[in-house]
Amino acid sequence: MDSQSIATAAYIVAALLFILSLAGLSKHETASQGVLYGITGMVIALLATFGVVADVADSTSIVLLLIAVAIGAAIGLWRARVVEMTGMPELIALLHSFVGLAAVLVGWNGYYEVEGHAGQTEFTGSLLNIHHAEVFIGIFIGAVTFTGSIVAFLKLSARIKSSPLMLPGKNLINLGALAAFGVLTVFFVITPSLGLLIAVTVVALALGWHLVASIGGGDMPVVVSMLNSYSGWAAAASGFLLDNDALIVTGALVGSSGAYLSYIMCQAMNRSFISVIAGGFGAVASTADDTDYGDHRETTAADTAELLKNATSVIITPGYGMAVAQAQYPVAELVRKLRALDVEVRFGIHPVAGRLPGHMNVLLAEAKVPYDIVLEMDEVNDDFAETSVVLVIGANDTVNPAAAEDPTSPIAGMPVLHVWEAHDVIVFKRSMAPGYAGVQNPLFFRDNTQMLFGDAKDKVEEIIRSL
Ligand code: TAP
Repeated sequence: MDSQSIATAAYIVAALLFILSLAGLSKHETASQGVLYGITGMVIALLATFGVVADVADSTSIVLLLIAVAIGAAIGLWRARVVEMTGMPELIALLHSFVGLAAVLVGWNGYYEVEGHAGQTEFTGSLLNIHHAEVFIGIFIGAVTFTGSIVAFLKLSARIKSSPLMLPGKNLINLGALAAFGVLTVFFVITPSLGLLIAVTVVALALGWHLVASIGGGDMPVVVSMLNSYSGWAAAASGFLLDNDALIVTGALVGSSGAYLSYIMCQAMNRSFISVIAGGFGAVASTADDTDYGDHRETTAADTAELLKNATSVIITPGYGMAVAQAQYPVAELVRKLRALDVEVRFGIHPVAGRLPGHMNVLLAEAKVPYDIVLEMDEVNDDFAETSVVLVIGANDTVNPAAAEDPTSPIAGMPVLHVWEAHDVIVFKRSMAPGYAGVQNPLFFRDNTQMLFGDAKDKVEEIIRSL
């Protein structure tokens, strides 16, 4: 058996492990097993690829390859160890940009390899045309992913404003870029040239930038999963060019699971899937909000403790602020104390609470909150009216009644947790500042709402002491 046949067999095993990994990751209970399958699959795929390369490459190339892998692995390990949970989405966006850049480089390399050895490669006739199309498509998807992910990284890390860029005729710009890609591909397949390759790279880089820049803050969760999907397709395109089955299968898995996640996200946010992939939503420019919402009421930790002691049922709706404050541990402690006092306590989790899918579930699992009291938005939304107290811990956009009641709001139509229907609502935050979408929250001014200002962790600890 030569190294290529061993690699093919290894790639099949790796692909199966990746599928098992995805299946494992879909449930709390099997998630860590899923991660282990993924790591094992990746190690097998890397070793098999190395075996193939070692067979054909000279020793200098192998040494260079090992050095590059060692540097990349060291940087990756370091970043993964130091990244805060709240910084995960921006790190993921940055990693997607690398996949995009790699696909562009593989595409350019594919062009030079074949054009530079005209007549000496296996590519002739229609095979050559297919190769040219692969090069072009790979570069296009890769470049869109590259700049799109960079804009997402800049927005998520607040290095640029998250509000949507509203260029006049933005949909026409996107459609024009797609049409230009189609026409350029036809020309490239007929008469490939460096000029066309540069043109498609520039068009795709600009399109990726524009697609993500046009999307507003509140819609970023869908963008992140959409870029995840694009990076998968970019990897699959590179797999075709490099004739690497593992890359094709892995890319297709990431591409299709990312697309499905985007679809679920769109449903959760009540957005049209088609308009998302066209970069066309978040389109309504938010108008300056000069509404007079009235006054808000403030409360103290001691009064909140008193309210909780007398409650029969409590729902906690956590958000990004709980992650920032790392309040999940005292929150878990508070839950234990309240349950010991015979108060029914449950969590209501919005699908886009925090900054990445499942963010709140991970934090609560970390703090050992029992899974059976952590409920999805749909499971709990009808129960608020019969709930004594809701604790909104660092959540804002996900509990904003304007989404349900104000059709002119930039987040209109997004399903939200109906916390305002409860008897009392306590909002934990540090100021009256708006949430990620930059939209004021009328909840803070309702008669049954009281604001508990300060760092969420400090305030929950104060409540525990008062209890
Ligand atoms: P947000 O709307 O982001 O609001 C979080 C609130 O937490 C802020 O109003 C902030 O108010 C408060 N906060 C921050 N640090 C705090 C601390 N140390 N102690 C107490 N409060 C603190 O939160 P959300 O309701 O979770 O909504 C998530 C938003 O992020 C949505 O718009 C969603 O679309 C977007 N997004 C989600 C994702 C995913 S996949 N989940 C990805 C990207 C974007 P103060 O500053 O006044 O304290």
